[in-house]
Amino acid sequence: MAEEAKNSGVNDAVVAAQSHSADGAAVGTAVLSSDAVQNPGLPPHRERVTDLDPKKAKRAERTVYTLFYISIVGSLGAVLAYMFFPIETGELLAVRLHTMFVGIAMALALLAVGIGAVHWGKALMADHESIDERHPVPSNQETREDAAEVFTLADKESGFSRRSLVRNSLIGALIAFPLPGITLMRSLAPQDRDPVQLLKHTMWDKGIRLARDPSGVAIKASDVTIGSAFHVIPETLTHEEFSKLSLEERGGSENFLDAKAKAIVLLMRLDQSQLKELPDRKDWSYDGIVAYSKVCTHVGCPVALYEQHTHHLLCPCHQSQFDVSEHAKVVFGPAKRPLPQLPITVDKDGYLIAQSDFHEPVGPSFWERLK
Ligand code: FES
Repeated sequence: MAEEAKNSGVNDAVVAAQSHSADGAAVGTAVLSSDAVQNPGLPPHRERVTDLDPKKAKRAERTVYTLFYISIVGSLGAVLAYMFFPIETGELLAVRLHTMFVGIAMALALLAVGIGAVHWGKALMADHESIDERHPVPSNQETREDAAEVFTLADKESGFSRRSLVRNSLIGALIAFPLPGITLMRSLAPQDRDPVQLLKHTMWDKGIRLARDPSGVAIKASDVTIGSAFHVIPETLTHEEFSKLSLEERGGSENFLDAKAKAIVLLMRLDQSQLKELPDRKDWSYDGIVAYSKVCTHVGCPVALYEQHTHHLLCPCHQSQFDVSEHAKVVFGPAKRPLPQLPITVDKDGYLIAQSDFHEPVGPSFWERLK
């Protein structure tokens, strides 16, 4: 074998295996490379300026705790920005200012704590090469004691206990950092009002015309052909009209976008013979025209896709499907409740109007668990 290797011009030494199978054939070979890459070892250690000059070490320390303090300022700034640039008014400018200032402050907090930590590690913590031996798992008592020793050593070398300004400012930065996140949760739900009542009342009321979204042009029953679908808002949902309405008429929503988010509706016309209406909803449609809330009952995405042939409405978020021909019952997906139906009819001029508000809360069904 060694002769073969020599003849083939390959430098590796090929060694025949010692074991043989039942028929006497060798079951394997071992290859010993004669030109394996040698371990180059570590380059010579170079001292950093902070190792050589105590003044520079002090300056690096100042930089680190200054960055941690900047992080605290950023976190608190995000909380203040949240308070001083509210988005409750629903104005686009208010939303822009809110997201810009909260975002800038949070970015500052995150960047400063990150840069500070890196600078601490690079400039101040012990800078020597070490080999970390692998140990069997699980660790035994001796290993755990070793680990404790490593922690003690790391504490000693990083100066975590000794450099109290750096340590305390880092702890402060880490405590302050979650505050903006906690503050932002304030926007998830109204503090002083029952969410079930808020979702139950929308801008729809008896006699309000159904209008196209976003133009606000009222829809006549004769405009709706079989198979067509319209995105609909109340006719009173225009910026001009909205400012004149009372809180009650706005369906309890203080701002335009909230009111619109609750009141949006999908309008479809089917062949009357294809509609399977519930006995108590026989007069909720008009000549095959039905209106359902566009807010998905799963987690509230807009149910925007209508498939004319199957009469299915599809929510693009998690693929829930609702059958419009059967009171929008769920036929697929994670939604657990049909889309709420808006009872409609026509006025004397032929325009489609609401008979009343929805009879149940629109949107996600979490409130059902509160019953
Ligand atoms: S929000 Fe519609 S399926 Fe999840």
